[in-house]
Amino acid sequence: MELLENYNNLYNLCLMFQHMTEVPSDEELLKLPFMNGDLGVEKRIEDLLGRLTLQEKFKLCGGTRYYYAKPVKRLGIKNFKMTDGPHGIAAQSSGSKEGTYFPTAICRTATWNPELSEKFGVAVAQEVRDIGYHMILGPAINIQRTPLCGRTFEYQTEDPYLNIKMAVPVVKGIQSQKIAACVKHYACNNQDTNRYRVNSVVSERAMREIYLPAYEAVVREADAWSFMSCYNRVNGTFGCENKNLLKERLMEDWGFRGFVVSDWHALRNNKASPENCINAGLTLEMPSPTVYRGKNIIKALSEGKITEEILNENIKRFLRVMFLVGLFDDENTLPLGNRNTMEHQKIARKIAEEGIVLLKNENGLLPLDINKLKKIAVIGPNADKKMAMGGGSSQVLSPYEITPLKGLEEKCKGKVDIISSPIDADVTIIVAGLNHDRGMDSEFQDRETLELPADQIELINKTTQENPNTLVVLISGSPIAMDEWLGNVPSVVEAWYPGLEGGYAIADILFGDVNPSGKLPITFPKKLSDSPAHASKRTFPGDDNVFYDEGIFVGYRHFDIKNIEPLFAFGYGLSYTTFTYENLKISKDKVSKDETFNVSCDIINSGSRDGAEIVQLYIQDVVASVERPLKELKGFKKIWLKPGEKRTVNFELDKISLSFYDEKNHCWTAEKGKFNILIGSSSRDIRLQSEIEYL
Ligand code: BGC
Repeated sequence: MELLENYNNLYNLCLMFQHMTEVPSDEELLKLPFMNGDLGVEKRIEDLLGRLTLQEKFKLCGGTRYYYAKPVKRLGIKNFKMTDGPHGIAAQSSGSKEGTYFPTAICRTATWNPELSEKFGVAVAQEVRDIGYHMILGPAINIQRTPLCGRTFEYQTEDPYLNIKMAVPVVKGIQSQKIAACVKHYACNNQDTNRYRVNSVVSERAMREIYLPAYEAVVREADAWSFMSCYNRVNGTFGCENKNLLKERLMEDWGFRGFVVSDWHALRNNKASPENCINAGLTLEMPSPTVYRGKNIIKALSEGKITEEILNENIKRFLRVMFLVGLFDDENTLPLGNRNTMEHQKIARKIAEEGIVLLKNENGLLPLDINKLKKIAVIGPNADKKMAMGGGSSQVLSPYEITPLKGLEEKCKGKVDIISSPIDADVTIIVAGLNHDRGMDSEFQDRETLELPADQIELINKTTQENPNTLVVLISGSPIAMDEWLGNVPSVVEAWYPGLEGGYAIADILFGDVNPSGKLPITFPKKLSDSPAHASKRTFPGDDNVFYDEGIFVGYRHFDIKNIEPLFAFGYGLSYTTFTYENLKISKDKVSKDETFNVSCDIINSGSRDGAEIVQLYIQDVVASVERPLKELKGFKKIWLKPGEKRTVNFELDKISLSFYDEKNHCWTAEKGKFNILIGSSSRDIRLQSEIEYL
């Protein structure tokens, strides 16, 4: 009772003081120690924290104007501004500013090119800086557990290793511009059905091996400055209240020094308690304080449910990021922002060129020869459909968008006629797939089916009867089943949502100016029931609980162990040239404890065009005390080769690549015995194999 009175008195005093204080002049502010950049971030934090009243601290815990944190003018704390999202500065959170519409994350990941991820990160951060914001709400790195998840297009991959390799450079790129990355949605937010409430029931082993590695890596390897907690519960506790995920793993185990923001409206929707969130380490409630109202925090303090130290710790994390992004610094000293530049458009186009995947190419229909064609029919619902302004919070107001039709028209101008009747055409291109309507690739709702809409299947099958020279370009952000039509078309290209220059990239690939080099970051199943999350209603979409019964057998790990033939395997993608693999060498055949070992092989471009190959290294534990996947990706290299050119590819491996998470002993373990080293062009096209013995 006494405590309550003390806090209330203090609070009231703060309020009074607040009204009495004048906002100091810029000159007065500049004299304060925390404004001195030479002091070092940690000392600046201490100084500023010491000057904040209790009421000002409460203020910093909640948002305003939907995408801002509240300012504290008395101390020169401006609005900290946040914008979505994963593939460009998003329309609704940037005040409808135009921004470069980059290919969505699944397309970027299909490049298997970490350098492009970093370039994207730098570019998108420059756009954030240009609109005067401080943090981008991305990357989104939830594992693609089911192909039906509405946000598969915003996420990267089904594989934890590829997830790490493509997420770390994005975060590094963004933060190199002194813009904060906000990695989301932590964790196990793998579906949109019932997303505010559903409880993801996940084993510790699956968390460690599948769902958490990329989150851990962006902290350890890229020092991510912010995380967004998920809406859903994980093993019984909501993301925003989840002490185990936030305080214990993220902060204590991985050494995260940034701050955690809630997903929008999560605290209100989850009816969260202020003490649970504060004690879990969540600093900022967005978009506005409901649970984090001053009076609620005071109550928690006075009842001894939280301490001021914990509150201070949460605030310090936020102040730290404010200093890191230069919120108090002279803007002229910060990295320059820019937006919608040719440089950014070039990066978007490059990602599209490298991310588009050639799925099927029979009878050499592709690449098309512009000199041999007179008429091309371009049809289908996605031929001229713009996609940037769809999908939910990530939608981008793009200054322009080259649709597939537009790209093809430009390519063919003066050379080939583009018509709409397949019967009269030398070749027909059907641009089919999904869009961002609810129930397709869209936030808020999962897809209902893996199939294309019936009218599209009909269109494909009717058109191929009229004109066998028909190919399909798919625009989609998630896998599509093709059983009903694949046999009728010689060529299929998966173009994802390829960004504002996508139409040019598609045309370049179809006409062979660019040799396709993307590979699937997710398995394409033949039918939904083949997919690991779709064993029953309990495993997807669940009800109150969704049980991750498949454990670590997510994506290709499941197809392998169950011996199910996928439609197109993880890591698969064709090229217009061919590659030969030879000369596998392993530096030692017996590896002891902490030794590293090297694996190398030669890749030869054995075809007649320049091309890029993504060489993949998988490891298989031959005998183990627990069930292990038949193979797991542990290395990849993307290399460019001229016809006839040969290149040696090297991989360095260690016991981490051989380990699994041992639930009994709570640690990573590499067990003694034989391991197969598999090198391939996809997870189902292993070209070279050897073994080592771990001693
Ligand atoms: C989404 C987040 C997004 C936030 C702010 C939420 O509905 O789940 O991904 O960053 O809104 O727009």
